[in-house]
Amino acid sequence: MTFAPQLRIPGPTPLPERIVRSMTRPMIDHRGPEFATILAEITAGAKRVFKTENDLLLLTSSGTGGLESAVANLVSPGDEVVVALCGNFGERFAALAAAYGADVVRLEFEWGQPVDPDDLSVVLERHPKARLLLLTHNETSTGLTNPLRELARAGRNADRIVVVDGVSSISSIAIETDAWGIDVAVSGSQKGWMAPPGFALVSVSERAWAQQVKARSPRFYFDWKEAKAWAEKGMTPFTPAVSVAFAMQEGLRMLEEEGLENVYQRHARLARATQAGLEALGFQLFARDGYRSHTVTSALPPPGLDVNALRKLLDARYGVVIAGGQGKMTGKMVRVGHLGAVAEGDVVQVIWAIEQALEELDIAPADGRGVAAITASVQGVPAATR
Ligand SMILES: Cc1ncc(COP(=O)(O)O)c(C=O)c1O
Repeated sequence: MTFAPQLRIPGPTPLPERIVRSMTRPMIDHRGPEFATILAEITAGAKRVFKTENDLLLLTSSGTGGLESAVANLVSPGDEVVVALCGNFGERFAALAAAYGADVVRLEFEWGQPVDPDDLSVVLERHPKARLLLLTHNETSTGLTNPLRELARAGRNADRIVVVDGVSSISSIAIETDAWGIDVAVSGSQKGWMAPPGFALVSVSERAWAQQVKARSPRFYFDWKEAKAWAEKGMTPFTPAVSVAFAMQEGLRMLEEEGLENVYQRHARLARATQAGLEALGFQLFARDGYRSHTVTSALPPPGLDVNALRKLLDARYGVVIAGGQGKMTGKMVRVGHLGAVAEGDVVQVIWAIEQALEELDIAPADGRGVAAITASVQGVPAATR
């Protein structure tokens, strides 16, 4: 018997009770003063998380809508656009740009490897006409965090408009949008923000606005100019996901109560614990050491383990839901999400359940080594901060 599924996928993330409660109130007028106050609070809070003084737009859509808004507002058909990619979401960003008629220049790295800033500089030098550089901060498909500060610097040094997919990182992994020279950064409410899916958050610099005026792609629902004009009146151009706004407001309050630095450190500890547990159970970590994500851990299974059978058993017997691989890694990898409202005890639960399932699937006896490895990984960390 399981009581509630334990969501250990890289988003949507578990909703704390406080946030669930925040959504159980009557609907309000999205053109009235109450919504304007909420919108202002979310916008100000999100700017503190993004570390930006730029405009911060809230669009009702999933994260991809935020990314599409960047392409629709910045690209003209035929423009050269450099896309640095090392996984499925980078591929998607490239496909999105191509769908708007961009001439995509791909700088591609093997899955599990990060994008190299020096190689990026070389590509940018070779393509002086490409105004836009599209980057993925946290490549969720491979469980890897790219060296964003260095990549953005390479883009800025070459005077490009730097656009960042931060859907699965921002609010869980540190970003300094302005200090790192990022023109556009995008996130999604269902990730570290601890809210349901429904809002894309998009920061837009002055340089990006100047490009926006020149770009000639069709845009309507995602027209940034409209979003900004309405935001100045405390509204959104179209009906927003009001209940998700309630949740975002509460989620931001929780992030600020914990303190962003503590949030980032907690995610780093959760990643270490998950890595230790999976390795002890015979999994092979997929992303290159030094670049492993703090929000999602990817690993190849021990010999003989059918990933789909494992996931099915975890769900059915233990109420634990983990993700599999994406794209060319479908069926070949597990991905354990640990972002948002997640604590060490939750990682213990997922590792313990995987260990039990491995015994049931005749892969290895359950002798407690997964949980023991987690315990070892927090040695030396003050108990109060675990
Ligand atoms: C890095 C990254 N980019 C983009 C997306 C797409 O976001 P959405 O599914 O909210 O459209 C995701 C979703 O997991 C993601 O992790």
